[in-house]
Amino acid sequence: MGTQLFALNITKYLKMAEDLYIPTDVSKEEVYRSLYPQLEALLISETDQIANMANIASALKEALGFFWVGFYRVVGERLVLGPFQGPIACTSIVLGRGVCGSAWKQAKTIIVPDVDKFPGHIACSSQSRSEIVVPVKHKNTVVAVLDVDSNQLNSFDETDLYWLEKICELL
Ligand code: SME
Repeated sequence: MGTQLFALNITKYLKMAEDLYIPTDVSKEEVYRSLYPQLEALLISETDQIANMANIASALKEALGFFWVGFYRVVGERLVLGPFQGPIACTSIVLGRGVCGSAWKQAKTIIVPDVDKFPGHIACSSQSRSEIVVPVKHKNTVVAVLDVDSNQLNSFDETDLYWLEKICELL
């Protein structure tokens, strides 16, 4: 019985190259918990990080309905726009600037409940109201950041921090 259930689950996740399974009418925590193994299964078969970032951005947008989800990659002395889902965005951010540049410099996740109150926030869209930026690390060095924007205030909390950091560790 246990083995059968495991086989069914694996089949479900292996199929997700075509479809994500996203539960409805459940908490954000449960959506993340359902999404995580599907992303894990998808990313394990691909070594190209741009492709993996593209699927993570798409999956997060589809599953959680964020306004903007995307990656900025460290290229030399700046962050350069990478795979994303949402409206067009600024292409280049220097170390220490904005929420992304600050998360890169501090090598830690930053939650911004109200972007208007974050000194130096870079407004790529006037519709963005709150934001979370998670560093992507390789051997303790930040190689990219995941930026998620909401068009509502106070959208991000410890649940997002926990799961988005865990998802970034898949890269
Ligand atoms: N707001 C970010 C810039 C990137 S966009 O939100 C997509 C920042 O302050 O770094």
